[in-house]
Amino acid sequence: MKKEGHSSRILLTTSIILVVFSIILWIVISQFFNVVDANVESSLENKFSLYLSAMIGLFLILSLFTVSRVIYHFTKPVDELTLVARKLASGDYKARASVSEFKDLGSLAVSINQIARNGQETQIVRSMEKERLKTLIESIGSSLLMLGRGGTVNLMNGVFAQTFHTSSSDAIGKSYKEIGLPLAAEQLIEQVFLSEQVHEQQIRMQQEYGPLDLTVYGAPVIGRHGNWLGIIVVFHDISKIIKLEEVRKDFVANVSHELRTPVTSIKGFAETLLDGALSDPDISRDFITIIEKESGRLHSLVTDLLELSGIEQHGFTLNISEVNAATTIQEATQLVSGKLAEKQMTIEIEEMSDLVMEADSGRLMQVLVNLLINAITYSKQGTTIRISGRKDDHSVLISIADEGIGIEKEKLQRVFERFYRADLARSRDSGGTGLGLAIVKHLLEAHHGSIWVESELGEGSVFFIKLPIHQPSHSIE
Ligand SMILES: Nc1ncnc2c1ncn2[C@@H]1O[C@H](COP(=O)(O)OP(=O)(O)OP(=O)(O)O)[C@@H](O)[C@H]1O
Ligand SMILES: [Mg+2]
Repeated sequence: MKKEGHSSRILLTTSIILVVFSIILWIVISQFFNVVDANVESSLENKFSLYLSAMIGLFLILSLFTVSRVIYHFTKPVDELTLVARKLASGDYKARASVSEFKDLGSLAVSINQIARNGQETQIVRSMEKERLKTLIESIGSSLLMLGRGGTVNLMNGVFAQTFHTSSSDAIGKSYKEIGLPLAAEQLIEQVFLSEQVHEQQIRMQQEYGPLDLTVYGAPVIGRHGNWLGIIVVFHDISKIIKLEEVRKDFVANVSHELRTPVTSIKGFAETLLDGALSDPDISRDFITIIEKESGRLHSLVTDLLELSGIEQHGFTLNISEVNAATTIQEATQLVSGKLAEKQMTIEIEEMSDLVMEADSGRLMQVLVNLLINAITYSKQGTTIRISGRKDDHSVLISIADEGIGIEKEKLQRVFERFYRADLARSRDSGGTGLGLAIVKHLLEAHHGSIWVESELGEGSVFFIKLPIHQPSHSIE
């Protein structure tokens, strides 16, 4: 509107000047020919006067039109440049001016376009940086919170929103004390505000699925000119590290405990022998038998521990080949036949089709023997063990069912943990280390398989193992 107003003002002024000029011209010429004198009645002069008026009128219209065209031609690029400049000022850097043929206006348009291009480039760079920063903030994996000088939330990432059950729209603009942070974290933020120094602390939050351990790191954000902009708080989830630390501590405690029993026993009997019991051959024999048994226990404990740590090593590999699990089951039952006979137990193997699959035959045998020995150890005399196997398109499922002592429901998952014994007295008695099922589980996982157990206390247990027919990333020529 302003653009049009500007042109039309120039146009109007020019028109008025021209009109005034034409009227003056008309009056002057009329005077010259005396056409305005009413007393003169000359048809020739009247005609001439009319003709002259028409000519002047026509001249007036023509000059008005020409002048308006010239003015329009000159003011159009100026108005256009004004419009483009206004768009640039409002941040629309896509606007461009057409380059006019008038020299000065043309170079002004070129400069304005250059400013527009520079502005557009800066805008692109800034939006790219903004996008990059946003991606970085969202992908750091830790909770991030940024507070302004007054302690109000300026920014948070998705992990923060998820951990503290909030959302950007809910929390932004609120004080850090209103967004449900744990008290310890609020206190840390307060300390950072007061001291303008970095603070770090470990906190534990109780969540529905268990404790969540976090390290909270709060740091002041200082601007380029040394001005204080607020603070940044990062919450790093260290639950897994803490859990691993606890597992490690438990493991060391368990190993020490397991080693202490036989070592104490061996030491005690050896000391008694040295104190004089050696002179009695019967007592000596009994004590040395105990020492031999306890050292056997120590030996199997150390062997199992080495075995387990070997399986857990990064470099552990399986010797994969085509194996018929039905044959391996037969061989495993022969291996335990001695123990079976001792307890007058029997094994029934269900009719099974060929169970050809890719596996490490030695390790598969180790798994089956371990499960069979457990089935024999934790069963009464004269009972039966039943083995079945079937196959579908992708996997082989083997089950070993006994009629033994069974396992309590709440202990079913734990039997695969290292050193865990469901029936402490009986399994200690059996000389077991409590590592057998942990080794079995690791071996099956190395095969991308799994193990689980169903059991009824006093009735018996069924151990199921599931293995894929084809080992991923392995091909047999
Ligand atoms: N077939 C089973 N019936 C009942 N309980 C079982 C059976 N198999 C395992 N368990 C329970 O699970 C626990 C863990 O078994 P695991 O084989 O890991 O250890 P272990 O037999 O005690 O010792 P070892 O390391 O010598 O095998 C056993 O102590 C026992 O309480
Ligand atoms: Mg066992």
